[in-house]
Amino acid sequence: MMSSALRQAQIQAEWATEHGRVLAHGGDGEIRKLTLFAPEIARQATAGQFVQIHPRPLSQTATEAPSAQAAPLAQVAPLAQAALAGAPAFDPLLRRPISLCEIRPEAGEISLIYRVVGRGTRALSAVPPGAVVDLLGPLGRSFPDPRAGQGRLVLIGGGLGIPPMAAAARWAMQSGRDAVAILGARTARYLAGAREVAETGIPVITVTDDGSAGEQGLVTDALDRLLIERVGEVWACGPEPMLVAVKERCAAAGIPCFVSVERHMACGFGACLGCTVPRAGGGYLKTCQDGPVFPAEEVILGGC
Ligand code: FES
Repeated sequence: MMSSALRQAQIQAEWATEHGRVLAHGGDGEIRKLTLFAPEIARQATAGQFVQIHPRPLSQTATEAPSAQAAPLAQVAPLAQAALAGAPAFDPLLRRPISLCEIRPEAGEISLIYRVVGRGTRALSAVPPGAVVDLLGPLGRSFPDPRAGQGRLVLIGGGLGIPPMAAAARWAMQSGRDAVAILGARTARYLAGAREVAETGIPVITVTDDGSAGEQGLVTDALDRLLIERVGEVWACGPEPMLVAVKERCAAAGIPCFVSVERHMACGFGACLGCTVPRAGGGYLKTCQDGPVFPAEEVILGGC
């Protein structure tokens, strides 16, 4: 089956705002994991979609959240606000887009893994358990339903492209699809999300640039070996050069390939045109609305 047919099997849910309660928030250095009680988003979301999250915790709505004990705002707000010391109340103005790592509709929970890269994510990193945060989601188009494809599904995650593959792996495993994950990073330290992928039960091939975890090499080295076997479909998320390399290999082998594209986003729902990606054949697509998951041949990445 070609990617264009599988495109029909991508899911785009109705998105809405939701107040999510922080259940757990921790991490190692700049890599953080945030687990939220957000039952509506958890019920609607599918692997490959994302949420927009505001870095400032909500204050007066803390006691309105649908479950668990709300921590008094007096306890939860100062930590996050300290990270924004001196900033006006509307700063940061925008929510931050983060891919869904784990989706547990039965528990009403979602988890996100993100990297602290600026003021917004630094402020977010200080939001403690018990706080209530403003969410928008689930946004964007998912990977295609694994039941729509044929043959072995290969999930490829590079760096911060690994966390979304946990939700993808869970979906594939629950669908009974034969699947394997290839996860790669510069070093073992940057394999955030690999544990969550492995916990789904999917076979995992780990590669690192320096050999500090798994095999030394690139994800495409592992993919090259798998392509000689019977690969039915590839889903990839990670740095753009990695996506380009995966796209080229799949095109050469005639394998349907879906890539999750990262772009700066403001609104997250198609209004600002800040997230465009060139469309093969001309024009542009909105990463937030037409993607972030695209059939690889539909978009121009890295000039090809
Ligand atoms: Fe605004 Fe995509 S983020 S249109």
